[in-house]
Parts: sequence; C-alpha cells; structure tokens
Amino acid sequence: MEIKKVGVLGCGLMGAGIAQISAQSNYPVVVSEINEELLNKGLKIIDKTLAKSVEKGKLAEQDKAAIQSRLKGTTNVEDFADCDLIVEAVVENMDLKKKIFADLDRICPSHAVLATNTSCLSVTEIAMATKRPDQVIGMHFFNPVPVMKLLEVVTTIVSSEETLKTVKAFGESLGKTVIVAKDTPAFIVNRVLTPLMLEAIRVLEAGLATREDIDNGMVLGCNHPMGPLTLADFVGLDTMYYITEAMYAESKDPKFAAPLLLKRMVTAGQLGRKTGKGFYDYT
Ligand code: 3HC
Repeated sequence: MEIKKVGVLGCGLMGAGIAQISAQSNYPVVVSEINEELLNKGLKIIDKTLAKSVEKGKLAEQDKAAIQSRLKGTTNVEDFADCDLIVEAVVENMDLKKKIFADLDRICPSHAVLATNTSCLSVTEIAMATKRPDQVIGMHFFNPVPVMKLLEVVTTIVSSEETLKTVKAFGESLGKTVIVAKDTPAFIVNRVLTPLMLEAIRVLEAGLATREDIDNGMVLGCNHPMGPLTLADFVGLDTMYYITEAMYAESKDPKFAAPLLLKRMVTAGQLGRKTGKGFYDYT
C-alpha cells in the first residue's frame, strides 16, 4: 500500500521528530496533541530544529516554509480520518495506548496502518485493542529522530507481510535504515543498550567512579558518541525507567531491574535534560 498522508499522534520529542521527517520527506502530515499548549510546544521543537538547519545553510528558508506548510497541528484525533498511516508516540502507558488504538481503529480508514513508536511495550497487546491487528505494527524511532538513521520495525505473530512491506518502504522513504525485530521485551536495540546504561547507573550508585569517568570511559574507550549517563539524561530518566520496568515485568530478568537511584531521581523529578537536572545539571 502506498502511504499518501501521515498522522502522528503525540507531539513530544519523538512525535515532533517523526512529524518533521515525514513532512521533510514530502508527506502531508497531521500531528496531534491533547491541548493547544502541548501542540504549540511540539511545533516549536520542529520550528527550532528547522531554523537551526537554515542558520547552518543546510536548508533554504523557503524549504523550511514548505515543510511547515505540509504540517497540520490538531487537538482533534478525528482529523486522522483520511490518513493512510498513523504513528502513535505518547508516553509508555499500556492502558493509554490501548485506548488510543481503539479510537484510531474507529476513526481511521479500513486500509490504514496503525503504528506505535513504543520502545518497550508489547505491540501484540496494543494490536489486540483493535479489530485490525494484522495492520498494527511497531515503528521504533531513535532520538533525535531527524538525525538518527535507524528505524526498528516490530512485527508480531498477527501482523501481516503487507503491513511490514508498507512500513519498511515508508521508513526507507524517510531515509532510514530499517531493521526488523520480533515483539519481545524491548526488541533489539533497547534490549542490548539498556543493560549497559543500567550498569553505568549501578557503578555510579555504588560509588565506584564519578559520572565523568564513567562517561569518558565509554566515549573515549569505546567511541560512543555520548557516555551512558549523558545518554540517559538525553533520553529522559522517566522514559528509561518506564522501559526498564516494562522489560523487567515481562522478562523477570534481573539485568533489567531499575537501580534504586534511577527510581529516586524520577520520583524527585530529576528527569535529565528536559527538566534541567539529571545525572548532570543543565540549568
Ligand atoms: N534534534 C534535531 N537535530 C539535532 C538534535 C536534536 N535534538 N541534536 C543534534 N542535532 C543535529 C545537529 O543539528 C547536527 O546537525 P548537522 O550535522 O546537520 O549540523 C547533528 O545533529 C550533530 O549535532 P552536534 O554537532 O550539535 O552534536 P553531536 O555531534 O554531539 O551530535 C547527537 C549530537 C546526534 C545527539 C550525538 O551526540 C549522538 O548521536 N548521541 C547518541 C544518540 C543516541 O544514542 N540516541 C539513541 C537513544 S536511545 C533511543 O532513542 C531509544 C528510545 O527507545 C529510548
């Protein structure tokens, strides 16, 4: 199936990125948030990223305007009624996602593919909230979406070959390299990455090294672009915590158990860059 119009549900960091690259790849895009304030905040993220590209001479001012003209912000999910693909990018809450997918199933055309950007929850469980589980699939993007070259597509035992083919082609049209994962806890990338980040937090928690030495160790010793604690702040400690909780709940594997320090920081609202404080201070 050819995707002609894209819907993105949620305009936080990930949703804004997905909406931006879709519009940048010439798709008309409808992007939604639950209220005007959050919608404007999300659209501002896009405006800022595009403005930076203009500043750097990587994007012409008229191209920025053309990209933004393809983006329609809304607070009404009924506006997804003529989209061929809808990518949901809200917080990692299964009950919320199930409700959203049941609504999308009612609103969207029968041919439409419904995708979730979940990084850890079961795509099968989300799919079963609809009457079209064969057309539900995971599309896991990476932060910052406009920069990261990967799209991890997550198939389930009920998703169809046609759905996989459609989202693979769509992902490639966004300039992403597509990898295909099965619906198991945290798929491929987070399954490998999360234990590393959790171990870095445990090393800090145990007082074995400073945050700087842990990060420098991985940046300078392994050529990672960011140290694991800086990356945790970048991803958001709440997001990290939800991911680990979901992985642990499904797998019962202690390597996915969240260190107490992570839990306490989330409780204290120290969520990383977005709140100005995490493992580092950004104020
Ligand atoms: N949004 C859009 N573009 C951004 C950006 C953002 N938030 N941050 C940086 N960029 C762009 C810059 O504008 C720049 O673009 P240019 O090459 O066209 O000039 C380019 O990225 C490089 O940025 P900088 O020169 O400012 O800085 P760096 O070279 O340090 O790169 C980085 C920044 C790309 C974020 C790099 O540090 C990096 O790759 N970090 C690791 C990111 C990562 O691992 N992401 C995955 C997280 S896990 C995940 O998302 C899964 C989820 O389930 C949790």
